[in-house]
Amino acid sequence: MSKQHVDQNSGMDAATSQGSEPSKIVTVHNRKGGVGKSVIARSLAEVWYQQGRQVFLIDMDSQRSSYREDHPFAKQKPPFPFEAATDPVKVKALLEQYADTHHIVIDTPGKLAKEYLFAMAVADMVVIPTKPTADDYEPTADVVKMIKATTREPAIMKMREGVPIQFRILMNMTDPRKANTEVFREFYQRQGIPLFNTEIRDLVALSNIKMTGFPRPNTNAGANIRAFIREIEDLMMTLAKAA
Ligand SMILES: Nc1ncnc2c1ncn2[C@@H]1O[C@H](COP(=O)(O)OP(=O)(O)O)[C@@H](O)[C@H]1O
Ligand SMILES: [Mg+2]
Repeated sequence: MSKQHVDQNSGMDAATSQGSEPSKIVTVHNRKGGVGKSVIARSLAEVWYQQGRQVFLIDMDSQRSSYREDHPFAKQKPPFPFEAATDPVKVKALLEQYADTHHIVIDTPGKLAKEYLFAMAVADMVVIPTKPTADDYEPTADVVKMIKATTREPAIMKMREGVPIQFRILMNMTDPRKANTEVFREFYQRQGIPLFNTEIRDLVALSNIKMTGFPRPNTNAGANIRAFIREIEDLMMTLAKAA
């Protein structure tokens, strides 16, 4: 762990630092826009930061959707280090630079392009947010197909030491009063597409994070993202043991 990280992550509790462990990388991707990739990526980073972890956020969107100083509303600067990088070569350099940070979150734009395969290939977990609507099914299934096809790509499998890219669909913007989420969940399951058990609810506090920052821990949004983080961490632990 470099001094620079400690300085930038001043909220970090020194006792929780495990500088010698490699970073855990979570990539958030879907080729569809508006499914909540940037909200989920930023929320994960914010809550890990609230938990005293070292965090680094990479924004691969050329529109710099995670934060823009010149934006009239989206002005709430993340409290942790973050950087925009559209080019995989630059992303690779950043991953090396931040290799001893606890958590690296990569946000990608809603486009189907080869360069996002790199961002998924380096990840310990790929989160594919999707809304429980019929329109979201096809783009989401396309991303899953693209990920599954990488098991036939020797370069990617070599880079991952034979471990297939790990991914799950995340139901986002769900409303517990509506039955639609369960319908879509069952539909994805029937197609053999794995889902996170946790769902992210449609919450005003999450839609406002670019304006107001992430809400305090004792809010519905905080509890929802923490539950999601527990599931991601449990999964990564199980996968690490199996490897
Ligand atoms: N869980 C959520 N609850 C409420 N609003 C959300 C949630 N997730 C995303 N949004 C809103 O939906 C819109 C699209 O989200 P965004 O993260 O920009 O999607 P993407 O990055 O996939 O294009 C934004 O207006 C965002 O504030
Ligand atoms: Mg986005």
